[in-house]
Amino acid sequence: MSEQRKTLTTRQGHPVRDNQSMRTVGERGPATLENYQFIEKITHFDRERIPERVVHARGTGAHGYFEAYGTIGGEPASKYSRARVLNETGVQTPVFVRFSTVIGGKESPETARDPRGFAIKFKTSEGNWDLVGNNLKVFFIRDAIKFPDMIHAFKPDPVTNQQEPWRFYDFICSHPEALNMVTFVKSPWGIPATYREMEGSGVNTYKLVNDQGVAHLVKFHFEPKQGVRNLTAKQASEIQAHDTSHATRDLYAAIERGEYPEWEFCVQVMADGEHPELDFDPLDDTKRWPEDRFPLLPVGRLVLNRNPDNVFAETEQSAFGTGVLVDGIDFSDDKMLQGRTLSYSDTQRYRVGPNYLQLPINAPQSKAVARTNQRDGQMTFYVDNGESEKHINYEPSILGGLQEAPQPEKDYHQPVQGHLGRYQTSKTAADYQQAGERYRTFEDWERDELVSNVGGDLKQCPEPIQLRMVWHLWHCDQDYGRRVADVAGIDLEKAKALPPLPGKPAPNQDRQGPTYTS
Ligand code: HEM
Repeated sequence: MSEQRKTLTTRQGHPVRDNQSMRTVGERGPATLENYQFIEKITHFDRERIPERVVHARGTGAHGYFEAYGTIGGEPASKYSRARVLNETGVQTPVFVRFSTVIGGKESPETARDPRGFAIKFKTSEGNWDLVGNNLKVFFIRDAIKFPDMIHAFKPDPVTNQQEPWRFYDFICSHPEALNMVTFVKSPWGIPATYREMEGSGVNTYKLVNDQGVAHLVKFHFEPKQGVRNLTAKQASEIQAHDTSHATRDLYAAIERGEYPEWEFCVQVMADGEHPELDFDPLDDTKRWPEDRFPLLPVGRLVLNRNPDNVFAETEQSAFGTGVLVDGIDFSDDKMLQGRTLSYSDTQRYRVGPNYLQLPINAPQSKAVARTNQRDGQMTFYVDNGESEKHINYEPSILGGLQEAPQPEKDYHQPVQGHLGRYQTSKTAADYQQAGERYRTFEDWERDELVSNVGGDLKQCPEPIQLRMVWHLWHCDQDYGRRVADVAGIDLEKAKALPPLPGKPAPNQDRQGPTYTS
């Protein structure tokens, strides 16, 4: 670094000759208003914080790459998708990944029992693709309009400022679709040992679209080559007693040591359509697609090999959104996906600012430079490239300026027909069935932890919530309900005698579905 570069300056580029003392009249003051260097320094400091994410505030990020195998299930990936990122064998697409917990604030302990966010920004040669997912492959709710209520119930009570089990279970009681996710979160899977040792998933259903304009429904998954490892409640509290950043520390140190974490990126695909033969709706994000019928097909590998230079500039200001797709990967009618797609960029225009996409961490890579006619707004620091665009910031123009890209030969057109209204899925059997299967698939120690965690929580809840939760769990699996009732001291017979939830069909426990490999 040259001597000149080392000189401390103000933001205006003026050399700072004294950074130790503000200007005062004499040794004992007072200070004066034209103390510009001091004012610049302090007022910038006063603005160092931006709002933390409304959810997923606590996180850590790393750079890396994705490398496609060029195939899906032994066939060329192009059979399913024309997206280059999935087809270009051996090309390394730069990625930025941010892992997170959901409910706690920015400095909260990373041992929290919570789903873990797994958000990936692929900087592909065709522009950015964001996959904003979690580690558990499912979610609590299937209609986006419920998200603010759910988060309010899970966040601290507005009066006591404490997370209260009764608020969590009160919400869950009215949402049997959440039982699958609750069974995951309250088991050791709710506390992954590290970010390196957990799965990832896009959770929502997307579409892959090929050159012929044919679409398939798809789910995206990441399987850690480090294996999966989860913690008991006791192990987590022991870590938390001396370290509230163990997952950040682990990821950072592994990358610094050159032990680059790696995930196999897989898809599950099914023909586009309604699938009346399935007892769940493939657009319902509270359900897994059984892996014996829809196997995980590897499409490439994801490697993290570089820590950020600056946490604020990169991790904190990174902005992922479910609307950020490339050609060949499309939206499905998954109602959660559609609701999320509005929410992310909306919150980021507020959280980071209207020009958040100009920041290097969020801007597309050099082969896909952004060329728009968008102008101005807070913190604009450049005009999109191109000589002619300096003057012609509109389209069309017969003199020059930006032009539309050519249309693909065969595009995907989705037929849509129906009556506008508010609907709930009629396929509710799997709400209980998948949660029961999950319970039965766990190893003994995982089931013991789950029962002890849910039972311990329910002890702190009022009776109507206790009874309804045991009723739900009993319908998932009788053993599940019975054991939780035992631990919490709840009257099982009284719980079983409850009528079905108003407006919801009675659960059907007869079916024995498939089990899952993980
Ligand atoms: C972050 C909304 C469902 C995963 C966020 C943020 C919002 C949000 C507003 C903060 C974004 C930011 O400040 O940059 C919603 C809404 C949902 C929903 C409205 C449902 C309708 C989900 C689901 C998943 C998920 C189903 C998992 C599959 C994430 C992740 C982040 C996040 C991983 C953190 C991204 C990062 O690291 O910056 N969500 N979310 N969300 N959400 Fe969601």
